[in-house]
Amino acid sequence: MARSHLPLSHEALMLDVLQNLPSPGGKNVTFHELDFLLGTEQSLSKVAWADVPPSCDPVFILDNLANNTRRKGNMEQQLSQMVLGRPGESSRVATTAYPGATSRGTVKRWQVESFAAVLRHLLNDADRHLHVVDFGCGTGTLLLPLAVLFPHCTFTGVEMKPAAVALLLERARAAGLSNVAARRCMIEEFLEEPFDVALALHACGNATDAAMQLAVRRHAAYIVSPCCVGKLKFSLAGGSSFSPVIHSYTPMLPGERRGVAPSGAAAPGEASGQFECVAERVEEERQRNSVAVVTSPATTERGPAECEDVNARERGAAGSAITVKKNSDGVVTLGEIRHPRSRWLRNHLPDPEVQFRIMAKVADQNHTGGSQAALMGRQPGNLEAVAARLCKAHVELDRSLAAAEEFYAVGMFKCFQWEKMAKSDLLVGVPANRSEWLSFTKELQRYSSLDGL
Ligand SMILES: C[S@@+](CC[C@H](N)C(=O)[O-])C[C@H]1O[C@@H](n2cnc3c(N)ncnc32)[C@H](O)[C@@H]1O
Repeated sequence: MARSHLPLSHEALMLDVLQNLPSPGGKNVTFHELDFLLGTEQSLSKVAWADVPPSCDPVFILDNLANNTRRKGNMEQQLSQMVLGRPGESSRVATTAYPGATSRGTVKRWQVESFAAVLRHLLNDADRHLHVVDFGCGTGTLLLPLAVLFPHCTFTGVEMKPAAVALLLERARAAGLSNVAARRCMIEEFLEEPFDVALALHACGNATDAAMQLAVRRHAAYIVSPCCVGKLKFSLAGGSSFSPVIHSYTPMLPGERRGVAPSGAAAPGEASGQFECVAERVEEERQRNSVAVVTSPATTERGPAECEDVNARERGAAGSAITVKKNSDGVVTLGEIRHPRSRWLRNHLPDPEVQFRIMAKVADQNHTGGSQAALMGRQPGNLEAVAARLCKAHVELDRSLAAAEEFYAVGMFKCFQWEKMAKSDLLVGVPANRSEWLSFTKELQRYSSLDGL
């Protein structure tokens, strides 16, 4: 009987394309264990969680408090009613860790530990002051424990949801932290303030790319753990990580008019009423707190035609070629982030945008499904798992190479305990020309073959 010629599955197609890419791509692209970078300084990975105030401890917030909240109501109410302890004071609320179990809080602690270890390594001298910005900070689950661990550094959270910003500030206030600020704005709009290190833990889709681009623009280091790579399909030709046409989900301030999506364009967040307008709450926080909160003007969607190109001015100011635009409201924002990000991948994929779209879709499976160990290729016969791993590795390779092409030393790592969590990739980069990071640069270059393309 004649064999039917079925079309190749996306997985088989991408395996074929990616395995045959030249170095540093191809079938051997992989993530390193974080210990590899930290070497003998393994103890750096340890965080004394008992010394972290409960309002800054993921286990307390995500496990203990969340469990209580289900029974007793609103988490914000509970936070403000509780005495949460300050650094150096003994906590009045018991925080129960879940040894061996992978509760949400425990996983978040491992992620915080991973970021903390790299940050400590970057600091080198423990007393150095750095301005660290956490992009897509949510309610501060990463930023707050880091602000406790690095009191000599200042931390700014950037987040589009006012409710999350308000809660972050509530948690910082409860812990008595004075090195924390928050900006309610889109990541893409955070163009005014200089900073030294960009963090992004699970900033959805191309929000991670925006954080990395901003870091490059500022000659800052970056530590990011990406998520929702499937959403990159929305932003292949520019646009936000939510849709090709909606560029901002920043909720309105009172009295502002919500922009109307072009016909046929879905506006998922707005349609579902997902983004509550709590601007009054933010204003209240601004007045009440010693901790700063700055709210950028709310933006609506904007099309390329409305954008005035301000790249020449920005390039002059920041010495970087990252594209920025000014919309009709006068808000300066990052230019469109396209994929593939690196010249390298654009040059090597026969049809870059088409294949990147498929690659991001297949890569997204690497995020779901429980066992990361299986997806890391330990089930050699499982084509889907191997393809998902390889596609995810190439999405992150592409991001890393985009930075390497801007003279960054870059590395691709796995968070501590990566086998027990989804979304465990950790990308690290430092500008190779910042003298204080020369030894870090050398270390990254020693462990990674991604530089100098
Ligand atoms: C999955 S949550 C992660 C929150 C936090 N980093 C953590 O790990 O707990 C992603 C956060 O990024 C925010 N976010 C995503 N895209 C953004 C953008 N373009 N500008 C500002 N915030 C964004 C979302 O509102 C959300 O709070």
